[in-house]
Amino acid sequence: MNGIQDGVAVVTGAGSGIGRQTAIRFAEEGASVVVADVDEEGGDETVGTIRDEGGEATFVRTDVTDGDDVDAMVQTALDEYGGLDFAHNNAGIADEGTRLAEYDESEWDRMIDINLKGVWRCLKAEIPEMIEQGGGAIVNTSSVAGVSANGSAHYAASKHGVIGLTRRATVDYADDGIRFNAVCPGVIDTPMVQQASEDNTEEMEQITASIPAGRLGTPEDIASTVVWLCSDDSSYVMGQPIVIDGGLLAQ
Ligand SMILES: NC(=O)c1ccc[n+]([C@@H]2O[C@H](COP(=O)([O-])OP(=O)(O)OC[C@H]3O[C@@H](n4cnc5c(N)ncnc54)[C@H](O)[C@@H]3O)[C@@H](O)[C@H]2O)c1
Repeated sequence: MNGIQDGVAVVTGAGSGIGRQTAIRFAEEGASVVVADVDEEGGDETVGTIRDEGGEATFVRTDVTDGDDVDAMVQTALDEYGGLDFAHNNAGIADEGTRLAEYDESEWDRMIDINLKGVWRCLKAEIPEMIEQGGGAIVNTSSVAGVSANGSAHYAASKHGVIGLTRRATVDYADDGIRFNAVCPGVIDTPMVQQASEDNTEEMEQITASIPAGRLGTPEDIASTVVWLCSDDSSYVMGQPIVIDGGLLAQ
């Protein structure tokens, strides 16, 4: 993809699933990658995979609920690779599928702190560096739950919020040459979903059968879109929630 080669990317939640595949894809396209996650083992594994294939990556333990960690993540990109061109703000947690009145305030706070405020913390750290160097491209991970009532209320609220942040950032920073978009994955075959399917195989079979594509999405289905959204090939795509769901919401 045009414009990725020799760039510098940070990816949060890169120790597993969608984030790991995005980090690998950035490296395959010739970018240097800062792999950020709370999970050190997962992060190290991602870096190992990238390096085994001749790519360039560094792990930095990052909890997106901690502003100092997030600042250190961006600083790692500057120190190790001399800049910051692309970011995939992707770290997130799912929910147990409970209804609004059935979870308590601490569960609400945790969901919003990681899935929504975590993205805001990343943007706050990334944007000034991109302004400094004259531009960049950022992709935030929302969900089909960011544009519909899929997922429980606190998850859906967090993912709707990510789209609001993405749109507002687009308007605020277009003049600075920074593009922002969001990806809205459907049901993607990652540890997040594998956990749910172990808990309820029958429900997962029903969900898979309800997807027009006839299969779950793969992390690569999302990663290829994220890297495209950071590339020059998508230079006029700005402020968009891009749904990647095998036709789930088309019904
Ligand atoms: N898998 C799906 O079907 C699906 C669908 C829609 C949206 N999403 C979103 O995609 C993103 C990635 O999900 P995934 O399916 O790859 O899940 P995953 O569980 O495989 O990976 C998530 C990663 O985020 C990390 N993480 C969690 N909390 C963190 C924190 N506070 N700071 C830093 N890292 C943290 C985890 O350690 C893990 O490595 C999430 O935002 C999720 O909500 C996933």
